[in-house]
Amino acid sequence: MTELDDLAELAKRRGFFFPSNEAYGGTAGFYTYGPEGAALKRNLEDTWRDIFVREEGHMELEAPTVMPEAVFEASGHLDGFDDMIIECVECGATHRADHLVEDAVEDIEDAEAYEPEEVAELIADHGIECPSCGASLADTDVEEFNLMFGTNIGPGSSSPGYLRPETAQGIFVEFPRLKEYARNQLPFGVAQIGRAYRNEISPRRALVRVREFTQAELEHFIDPETDDPPLERVADVEVPLYSAESQNADDGGVETYTVGEAVEEGVIGSEWVAYYLGRAMDFYERIGIDMDRFRYRQHLSGERAHYAADCWDAETELGGNWVEVTGFAYRSDYDLSKHGEYSGEDFTLFRQYDEPKTVERATVDPDMSYLGPEFGGAAGDVADALESLAGRDRSAFDGEEVTVEVDGESYTVPVEKTGFSVEEQTEAGEHITPHVVEPSFGVGRLVYSVLIHRHGTDEVDGEQRAFLDLPADIAPTTVAVFPLMTKDGLDDRAEELAHELRENGFEVAYDDTGNIGRRYRRQDEVGTPYCVTVDYETLEDGTVTVRERDSTDQTRVAVDELPGALRQLVGGATLSEL
Ligand code: GLY
Repeated sequence: MTELDDLAELAKRRGFFFPSNEAYGGTAGFYTYGPEGAALKRNLEDTWRDIFVREEGHMELEAPTVMPEAVFEASGHLDGFDDMIIECVECGATHRADHLVEDAVEDIEDAEAYEPEEVAELIADHGIECPSCGASLADTDVEEFNLMFGTNIGPGSSSPGYLRPETAQGIFVEFPRLKEYARNQLPFGVAQIGRAYRNEISPRRALVRVREFTQAELEHFIDPETDDPPLERVADVEVPLYSAESQNADDGGVETYTVGEAVEEGVIGSEWVAYYLGRAMDFYERIGIDMDRFRYRQHLSGERAHYAADCWDAETELGGNWVEVTGFAYRSDYDLSKHGEYSGEDFTLFRQYDEPKTVERATVDPDMSYLGPEFGGAAGDVADALESLAGRDRSAFDGEEVTVEVDGESYTVPVEKTGFSVEEQTEAGEHITPHVVEPSFGVGRLVYSVLIHRHGTDEVDGEQRAFLDLPADIAPTTVAVFPLMTKDGLDDRAEELAHELRENGFEVAYDDTGNIGRRYRRQDEVGTPYCVTVDYETLEDGTVTVRERDSTDQTRVAVDELPGALRQLVGGATLSEL
């Protein structure tokens, strides 16, 4: 069995995650987190919140998952959020055309960057067959398929909506309110952890490519001219970088830089992206990612999303493949500008100058008694076009006449009828559209990575054991309590102890079935870092046995001191330090 098969088996059997709706044959691309998985995911999200909301001083919101069509017209998802699909004419199965090419052609790793016609040609040239029935796909068209799940808001079809394909849009559309909440001061960050949906053509690889998933996204709104990240906080953090240049070089590979060096040498173009690459290292380490199976990979130019100016992915190695677990994008003013343009609302902020500035402004005051009769219904648009031209290119008004374009038609106006003038004005500031830096984490992929990276086997007392060496504050259960026997009051005392520990804020499991060795194995397998056994000595002297998962060492601790001792252990102490 591969490590992925091993993990899939463990995930099902021990309640981490499993395919949804299996009673009805299953639904591809949907997974249910069982009790262990839901707890692990919650702990991972809490760690994310601790770093990216609390420590960074950002805000968090919770927006709806259904949004109206207008949002996605503006965001570009309606037109541009497509994958390439090919439908087999023999069996009707649908496949991701670019993935078929990547799987079949050794030196193509990123077929998504090609046009559909080019992918169709590659499929024909390489004789690629339908993976479901083996028929030739040579003469089959490759089409664009929009990944959004559509719905109707309310009865009827007059109000189309979509399940959001990224949580980010729920933040961007609320910017006019959020900026007021932030007292109109940049920079500020808004985070959200929530569900997003993509109608993937070929869901696959367990939690990697699914149709419903959880994102943890931070949108950091900045003034690109005046705001700098606190780079000094992460300057010495080491980051393993696989730059676009290295990817294109014959002998390129991952190189470790400090964040400071990477910025200085221009390997990372945006200081803001660099800041978050550095900050995120703390997160990956805290949740238990194996840093020998981790890298930051820069997007190649054809790979960037429609909104991204510079982009790096955090990738983890899973079963021999590199998988994106986080995207770090400099989204510039793309999203806020689009929402401002499409909604007509104000998505800008006022940037106050240090000193008021005297500036020259070119304006027009067109003579409408001339424009009206001359241009009829187009007169208003011609006046607007003259105003806009004056702002852009005042030299256009240097001659006797000036020409503007409206809806593809040219209109020529004598300059004397435009009321063109250049005036001096004192201005206190200007309206700017903030830029956005976005770290976007795929929570399910991170849960999956942690499970695969922390899953191992070793030998204890001559027996093979399977374990998850999860960090203590990420593990679904912190401490398991066992009575040595279910008699002589040991079980009552153990249940009471489990209750006391829960009251002290610990995640506690109680188990009184099977021998102690088997109970330890059960907890090792789901990553519980500590087990406590109530035995006959407990009844005599009030001490219990505390056993550590990783070393399997044991020590005795007084019950009264147990909560404090467990807190020390979770904080990093070893048994011998208690
Ligand atoms: N917000 C980035 C993404 O969903 O890919």
